Amino acid sequence: MSDISRLRKFVSPEIIFGLGARKMVANYARTFAVRKILLVSDPGVVAAGWVADIAALLDQEGIDFVTFTEVSANPRAQEVMQGAELYRQQGCNLIVAIGGGSPMDCAKGIGIISANGQHILEYEGIDRIHSPIPPLIFIPTTAGTSADVSQFAIINDESERVKISIISKALVPDVALIDPETSATMDPFLSACTGVDALVHAIEAFVSTAAGPLTDMHALEAIRLINTHLVAMVANPLDLHLREQMMLASLKAGLAFSNAILGAVHAMSHSLGGFLDLPHGLCNAMLIEHVVAYNYPAAEERFRVVASQMGLDVRGLNGRQVKQKLLGRIIELKQQVGLQQSLGQLGVKATDIPILSRKAVKDPCLLTNPRKSSQRDVESVYAEAL
Ligand SMILES: [Fe+2]
Repeated sequence: MSDISRLRKFVSPEIIFGLGARKMVANYARTFAVRKILLVSDPGVVAAGWVADIAALLDQEGIDFVTFTEVSANPRAQEVMQGAELYRQQGCNLIVAIGGGSPMDCAKGIGIISANGQHILEYEGIDRIHSPIPPLIFIPTTAGTSADVSQFAIINDESERVKISIISKALVPDVALIDPETSATMDPFLSACTGVDALVHAIEAFVSTAAGPLTDMHALEAIRLINTHLVAMVANPLDLHLREQMMLASLKAGLAFSNAILGAVHAMSHSLGGFLDLPHGLCNAMLIEHVVAYNYPAAEERFRVVASQMGLDVRGLNGRQVKQKLLGRIIELKQQVGLQQSLGQLGVKATDIPILSRKAVKDPCLLTNPRKSSQRDVESVYAEAL
């Protein structure tokens, strides 16, 4: 008898990958019988010139659109509701998002509300969206979050100071136009944060309890690409070949984690990011080696593969030695891109740990963590990272 709990699904948008991919935006809008587009972005992406760039492409083709750029880093529930109101008032029937995780997640939220009504916080959790959402065409400008391919939306619930995860196949965009040129305007700090986020996606997906052959191949290739190119990309921001390699890595990590889900780094990082409004990639960077150390005994063989994918020679080494080498390489990579802060240095206090942990154990990302984690376990990992 086959065991259906071992079956794996794999969902993905239609993906156009390569320099200039964003120029396909008008063509794709037409294939969805566009009437009017809500173009979602944020002030940083406006300043970098990308919103004007996409607006010009739409204008050339005579496609009507309205822009919504009131999205903060860590998009807030209220911004989603404002965007949905604009979508309704303006009679839009398609959403284009250009930017990093924040505008893309906000755009997903706007889509949910446009089709399903109610308040965005009511959709927290897995598979809670009933009506299909409007077509989404996403153009990522960072190489890390992968909201352009994933079935995740992360929204900041300011009243509770926590980030909620909304997970549904309905949130996989219809089209991802992945254009490495757009990532060349990221500053070194954002390049480092998003690159480490992508590495965490790939590692968490590979050791996830929901991993399978369709996600493993993408996760492993992403780890190899990031290990090879991240440091050079941060040091050479205008090198489009390196930007392209990291965009490809982020895409692969995204396909892996969207389908295999994540683990304790993300559960703890969502709690932290909601509590202190810190960049998501930075939160992950501060937690990763501590979570790997905690998870190691539950997925020793998998972490051995991760270590060799990160260029480490692990032949003949025992489990403890592989663990030390892997942790050393992760810490080294973080240092090489300038992310060596601890939680304490960013203002987390020991007295914050119980509340951070209470929120983290409720995050759906913890369900696929390879090692079962009680609130007490999560508290001790936060304490290690302090
Ligand atoms: Fe992430």
